[in-house]
Amino acid sequence: MSETPQSADLIVFGGTGDLSMRKLFPALYHCDRDGRLAPETRIIAMSRGGLDDADFRGKVDAEVRGSVPVDDLDTWQRFLDRLHHVSIDISGEDTTGWATLTALLAGHEQRSRVFYLASPPMTFGPFCRELHRAGLVTPASRVVLEKPLGRDLPSAQRINDEVGAIFDEEQIYRIDHYLGKETVQNLLVLRFANAFLEPIWNSLWIDHVQITVAETVGTPGRRGYYDHAGALRDMVQNHLLQLLCLVAMEPPSRNDRESIRDEKVKVLESLRAITGGEVDRFTVRGQYTAGESGGVQVPGYLDEPDNTAPTDASHRVETFAAIRAEVKNWRWAGVPFYLRTGKRMPDRYSEIVVQFKDVPHSIFPGSTPNRLVLRLQPSEGIKLHIMAKEPGAGEVALKPVPLSLSFAETFTTRVPEAYERLLMDVLTGNPTLFMRRDEVAAAWRWIDPILGAWESYGTAPEPYPAGSSGPAGAHELVSRSDRAWHEEYPV
Ligand code: BG6
Repeated sequence: MSETPQSADLIVFGGTGDLSMRKLFPALYHCDRDGRLAPETRIIAMSRGGLDDADFRGKVDAEVRGSVPVDDLDTWQRFLDRLHHVSIDISGEDTTGWATLTALLAGHEQRSRVFYLASPPMTFGPFCRELHRAGLVTPASRVVLEKPLGRDLPSAQRINDEVGAIFDEEQIYRIDHYLGKETVQNLLVLRFANAFLEPIWNSLWIDHVQITVAETVGTPGRRGYYDHAGALRDMVQNHLLQLLCLVAMEPPSRNDRESIRDEKVKVLESLRAITGGEVDRFTVRGQYTAGESGGVQVPGYLDEPDNTAPTDASHRVETFAAIRAEVKNWRWAGVPFYLRTGKRMPDRYSEIVVQFKDVPHSIFPGSTPNRLVLRLQPSEGIKLHIMAKEPGAGEVALKPVPLSLSFAETFTTRVPEAYERLLMDVLTGNPTLFMRRDEVAAAWRWIDPILGAWESYGTAPEPYPAGSSGPAGAHELVSRSDRAWHEEYPV
């Protein structure tokens, strides 16, 4: 991969926000350090911040430098020199910022131009209109939309219509950073570059699938967003459903933008709807209360420090969600997909567990079914648990042992952050790992009835202490059919 990088202008709205500082700029620095940014490429942060270029470079120097490996100051300085800042007035009354941006971009129409909207979704339409009015949308322009894309299907469609009025669908990159994670990429390779799995990747051999994204972090300072999002919109609608799609999709005919996305849409459209009274049987929601996490005492969701006091919405919002989903097609009929995500869980880890069925007839006591565990983070790897005989004379004793592949041990190259890959894909114009409009719509179409049922039934989320593995209901969700969550992590 040593194509000559093309010059580009990357304009980041929300350019001084948390996502930019924690994820985007560190990722861009890594790309620069690896020689993947052309010398002329510029990064222009847009915010209300009232900063000039020097202030902004100082801010990035202070906030980002500590989180990335700076092995030589020249490279770091080269990165800082790419950065610019333009202040904008979101209300639209003061148009100076747009004029400044226009002047900065003038004469560079041939470069690829990427508008990265890392700002709240209600700004997507107005920003796109303003870019159009200022004549900044060139044929070589692309726009990146950060999640959440709306809060339900109608609001997502509205945003898509607004953005779609200015940009063609091929120019729109809807990001889900989970798709840029190395092990998620590897899941496709595991499934479609190895022959042995395909014959057993179906309901004849697989008992159920578990997808867990557990976080130890809480939501301090995020009440404004989280009260109106909750775990279902923040994590399940996008990250967990994307993972489910990659596990459940049919083999695409090609590794290209449309073939993979076509197959993912088919999975989303095959999800069995969970409606009305069923919601209690198929879903569980929880909210963390005070407890011990990472060896320290932490407050409950309602007592998290924030600029705003808790409201009714704060009492109703879920910081944990678990769902028993079903993909209604020939391959997966009858195989539950258990999805689970929560804040303030005992460990931070994401994994996909494929639980195989037991042998049809066991001649050894104590055998347990095979299990394939794909760890997405941390310490990415794949484990296949198989039964082996414990050494020793006398009675045969069985033990499940893992055949283990650790990516860190097997490959010595640095594992890039998801945003590095995705930013490079946007800059080079490859949308395969981004969500198409119909994909986002299909995901909302499945999520909306669950949200609606939660609302009409109005029961509060089940409390769970911070540092625990979620509410009791989540365990009942699986134990009802004699199954259990895979809790063997970290190993
Ligand atoms: C984001 C959510 O999309 O993903 C956050 O908005 C969450 O609430 C984050 O913490 C988790 O990402 P990762 O890569 O740390 O697992």
